[in-house]
Amino acid sequence: MAAPLVFAHRGASAAQPENTLAAYERAFADGADGVECDVRLTRDGHLVCVHDRRVDRTSDGRGRVSQLTLAELRALDFGSWHGAGRPATVVVLDELIDVAAAAGRPVELLVETKHPSRYGAAVERALHATLRRHGLDRPGGRPVGVTAMSFAPSAVRRVRQLLPGVPTVQLLDLLPPGLRTGRVPFGAPIAGPSVALLRSRPGLAAALRAAGKRLYLWTVNTDAEVDLALRHGVDGIITDRPDAVRHRLR
Ligand code: G3P
Ligand code: CA
Repeated sequence: MAAPLVFAHRGASAAQPENTLAAYERAFADGADGVECDVRLTRDGHLVCVHDRRVDRTSDGRGRVSQLTLAELRALDFGSWHGAGRPATVVVLDELIDVAAAAGRPVELLVETKHPSRYGAAVERALHATLRRHGLDRPGGRPVGVTAMSFAPSAVRRVRQLLPGVPTVQLLDLLPPGLRTGRVPFGAPIAGPSVALLRSRPGLAAALRAAGKRLYLWTVNTDAEVDLALRHGVDGIITDRPDAVRHRLR
């Protein structure tokens, strides 16, 4: 069986401040197959890489991403809060795509849309526009691959309609209700269960695989969690520590 792909969660976020260029670049330098990033819409319609609804935890500012303009976000420092961090600006998804294209080898971006259902289809439309600007809205031999992920089934459905060439991940932190009756109630080709969900439901991975789904597991940080991923034969590991996970996989 092929070794699972290793994706750096919010970049190499144990070593560098999450969702900053330093974290993404570190992930590529550490040999990750790709990076995971969280995206939100700014007040003026830009997709920026910020995990929380508010900027308070990861910057020196306050307020909701959705109520700040890109210029206001660019004035904040998203790096210094982290122990190893230096001052860092917010990352626009376009900038992450450019950094990924400069990695010197094919890499994958796992783009997680955060709370997309609050904004109608605006987040998915912005994602579509961004990928089209970079020629990534359809598959085809480019050095950067893009996979879209969400916890919201409606958002995954919208991506599948707008961007049929972009693979999707249905993130799962709870058991999908239909699975109890043997039906897999989502169309995404990849399922993204949490470590906690997989631990509590030992039959889940086999059931998803029997339904033809690939599996990306998050967030895998310890040796025991890597071993769990290997036992369940997952296809991708999402981790804060891509260097440590790659070491364990060797
Ligand atoms: O990769 C999935 C994972 O990132 C989902 O949880 O809260 O870290 O975005 P969260
Ligand atoms: Ca995420």
